[in-house]
Amino acid sequence: MTLLSQLRDRLVPPPMRPVPAFMTDFLSAWGFRAVCIAFRNGIFDSLNVSPKTPAVLAEETGIHPGGMALLLDALNCLGYVREQHGRYENTAMTSRLRETVKLGVPYFEKIVFRDWEHLESQLRDGRGVRPVWFGGDWKIFQNGMVSLAQMNIDEVLRRVKINRSARRLLDLGGGHGLYSIAFCRRYRRLGAVVFDVPQVEKIVTTTVAEHGMQDRVKFRAGDFFTDELDPADVVLLFNIIHSKSEAENLELMRRVYETVEPGGTVVLLDQFPSPKLGKVGYTYGSLMALSMFSAAGQRTYQGDEVRNWFTKVGLTDTRFVPIRSAPGNALVIARKRG
Ligand SMILES: C[S@@+](CC[C@H](N)C(=O)[O-])C[C@H]1O[C@@H](n2cnc3c(N)ncnc32)[C@H](O)[C@@H]1O
Repeated sequence: MTLLSQLRDRLVPPPMRPVPAFMTDFLSAWGFRAVCIAFRNGIFDSLNVSPKTPAVLAEETGIHPGGMALLLDALNCLGYVREQHGRYENTAMTSRLRETVKLGVPYFEKIVFRDWEHLESQLRDGRGVRPVWFGGDWKIFQNGMVSLAQMNIDEVLRRVKINRSARRLLDLGGGHGLYSIAFCRRYRRLGAVVFDVPQVEKIVTTTVAEHGMQDRVKFRAGDFFTDELDPADVVLLFNIIHSKSEAENLELMRRVYETVEPGGTVVLLDQFPSPKLGKVGYTYGSLMALSMFSAAGQRTYQGDEVRNWFTKVGLTDTRFVPIRSAPGNALVIARKRG
């Protein structure tokens, strides 16, 4: 090393390096666990009513005061709460998303801390679990779906333009029914059938009743691979393909093509492991692939794979539409010729 380069190394600071990924990943894992504890103990709900000192929150939750102080400090760093004059309050982000995230937390917590206990051995064996949906825990599962739906539903409605003459929407694997309800609200002459397994009937009918949409949104129990499907002008396939094999998906597309009326629209929503969806979106699509492998022995697909299935069965005018409000998600929209 020359004297000159030694001098330069002393005088010029090394260039700033981005934080290494493993560092942010460790912090995210820790942070998520802290956030789960906060949600479970109603800390954000309580702060939504009024700002509080750690002592008051400790009393309310039964968490030791010293422990509460540490937890609040961590939540402060993570951007969930902020401290002013010894009292804590929710940040704007927490106030805005609290209700939505609260529904999704038990769902992600179960996946990350219980289901993924088995991921390593599943990856070794090359076999994930075929779904008994969410170990039969329907409420946690559907609440997770509701949480995701609440994040993207406004944008989905903005991006999907359906023909004003459309009268019948078929929501295959429609789960909670919120997408059907939203489409029917937006298109006044539309009626919907939420087609799903019998176990979700009560969740759907309760949600539909809460929205006062019993006249226009009906539930039908069945298996969309084997039972007859209702003819429709619009078919939704939201968050379905990632739990099915390629062969099953192609078969499902065939059935959809048969049931959609000429001139009708097919709308698919899913997560895609694609760099086209940006860094966060690509990461979500890829981690979702691992999650679906673990839960159902399947994966997420590429937009072009969906386009090929659509083309094979005869659907045309396929468009891939990223959903920005939920990174990693995109719509694939196609038409049956009139
Ligand atoms: C991931 S959830 C999606 C729920 C909703 N579409 C959404 O996007 O929020 C998948 C849904 O498909 C349903 N499903 C899966 N396989 C099915 C089948 N063969 N027949 C009917 N429903 C099915 C599940 O019961 C579940 O409610």
